[in-house]
Amino acid sequence: MNGFVRKPQTLDELIRSLHVLFDDDKVDIDEVKSLLYAYKSNPDEWMRFAKFDSYRYTRNLVDAGNGKFNLMILCWGEGHGSSIHDHTNSHCFVKILQGQMKETLYNWPTKSNHKQQLNKKAELLYDSGQVTYINDSIGLHQVENLSHSESAVTLHLYSPPFDQCCCFDQRSGHRYPVKMTFHSKFGERTPFTTEEIAENN
Ligand code: SIN
Repeated sequence: MNGFVRKPQTLDELIRSLHVLFDDDKVDIDEVKSLLYAYKSNPDEWMRFAKFDSYRYTRNLVDAGNGKFNLMILCWGEGHGSSIHDHTNSHCFVKILQGQMKETLYNWPTKSNHKQQLNKKAELLYDSGQVTYINDSIGLHQVENLSHSESAVTLHLYSPPFDQCCCFDQRSGHRYPVKMTFHSKFGERTPFTTEEIAENN
């Protein structure tokens, strides 16, 4: 698209434009950010994907991007947040669709085997409409809905898609692998995992 981003009028139009951008193997980060920024959040369009859980944030797949990216809606109840995590060598774009989110950036732990607290690099607040970006060369992050009265909804694009990342303990720097699952796909609740069944019994 050579720097020119046509404003998507709807979520469907946004998805079609993302398919065009990611058809190319080279990802132009600024172009993707501009496109996401240009989409004006319309709950009527994304509500059918926004499925909440009382206890944790949910990941809801919206579009599988021809295998080039995963576009998903994350629903954050009051006080919900992610663990500190990496992005498995992928690009991560986040647009706030509703509410306000806090992002805390951390440096990677150094390679030594000693326990070491993760270094906080920055704390950033994003309002509805804003877009942020991270990849592993920028560092690790944690995202939280700090509100105790309002839920939040975010649109995430990961490219290439991944289903496992590393999470980190802030105090020791200890890392552990985590499998990432979808609460729903294309608006339909996914079957419960064995872990979810065990937790609910
Ligand atoms: C985030 O904190 O960026 C969300 C992580 C996820 O995709 O589950």
